[in-house]
Amino acid sequence: MSDEFEELWSELAPVGRNRITGGYRRFSWGPADTEARGWFVSAARARGLDVETDGNGNLWAWWGAPGPEAVVTGSHLDSVPDGGAYDGPLGVVGALAAIGELRRRGLRPRRPLAVTVFAEEEGARFGVPCLGSRLLTGAITPERAGGLADADGVTWARAMEAAGLDPGRLGADHELLGRIGAFVELHIEQGRALVHSGAPVGVASAVWPHGRWRLDFSGQADHAGTTRLADRSDPMLPFAEAVLEARRAAEANGALATVGKVRVSPNGTNAVPSRVRAWLDARAADEGALRAVVERVDAAARGSAAEHGVTVNGFLESKSPLVEFDHRLRDRIAARVGGETGGLPLLTTGAGHDAGVLATAVPTAMLFVRNPTGTSHAPEEAATGADCRAGVAALADVLADLTGAGPRSRA
Ligand code: GLV
Ligand code: MN
Ligand code: MN
Repeated sequence: MSDEFEELWSELAPVGRNRITGGYRRFSWGPADTEARGWFVSAARARGLDVETDGNGNLWAWWGAPGPEAVVTGSHLDSVPDGGAYDGPLGVVGALAAIGELRRRGLRPRRPLAVTVFAEEEGARFGVPCLGSRLLTGAITPERAGGLADADGVTWARAMEAAGLDPGRLGADHELLGRIGAFVELHIEQGRALVHSGAPVGVASAVWPHGRWRLDFSGQADHAGTTRLADRSDPMLPFAEAVLEARRAAEANGALATVGKVRVSPNGTNAVPSRVRAWLDARAADEGALRAVVERVDAAARGSAAEHGVTVNGFLESKSPLVEFDHRLRDRIAARVGGETGGLPLLTTGAGHDAGVLATAVPTAMLFVRNPTGTSHAPEEAATGADCRAGVAALADVLADLTGAGPRSRA
């Protein structure tokens, strides 16, 4: 394998990296995201691919004319606040490098092959994750998506427009979806299962059901030095109770629950807050456990709010059902890549992916690359060069197989 992966990787690596934290801040349609998307367009064109932007802001780079039974690979370039280098970019850079690898092997696909970059996968700016793939598949309406606003009140529709795209084109694209015969996403592992199994690459079996809920607690701002405790309506207290209950409920149900984002108004040290807005991220192996966690948090928030003279309102912002990846595709990939060693480790994940959204519409699979730290959504996320190359080689094998690639002269 050549060092094409390293070359591409080093081009993209500085884009959106914060010098102080070392983490990435690539928020959809912002300067770093725009630069990363521009880099992709140039890199794809330099490799002879035809690049299109669909009506939802997702990028598609085609090798061969877009047509039926296409094999598509790719991931995303946006990040969480101070995210790691690999979550998303590994699958985009890896896809371009895998195409280079097919060429070096003298192969040409017999079916159209495309690399895609999905927009707003993390939902870091507009709140709903996998927004580009949800729009593409019709899992979210164009009206709702277009109206999603960032922290400054800028909507997805306006941000797209500012990027030169037409929000009038938002919505499900059945023609584009109908062309896809299979989608395969290469991704960094966001845990340590591959470290424990001693394998550089694994294949996904399922994605846990998960979702995001917003809780708005409203009370009365007041002076921290003069307002008697008994006279306060302090929204911080039911918020704190909800956070602790999320942890207890997750433990009781074998689930995961996180409150990683909170906004306090007016956010003064010497003022009782007037409002606390918090986001609960909950995930579980089954819908029942997930529901149980959310119901417990909701009940704790309401009970404690009533006790403290605070009002609370809860909103579901996004929900992703259990996804089982296509068994035939998964087994084909495991046999192709795992070969003589008897298959690849099979991994279930609690992380959401565009592949999980696409799985409702087309046969879909994921390959994971070992992450020695097991950490993700943080600068410590890692992968060795050798493991990235193993991931690219595995993806190239899979793409060669699925596209029926043959020697160039026979194409
Ligand atoms: C995406 O990375 C998610 O699962 O939050
Ligand atoms: Mn992520
Ligand atoms: Mn990702």
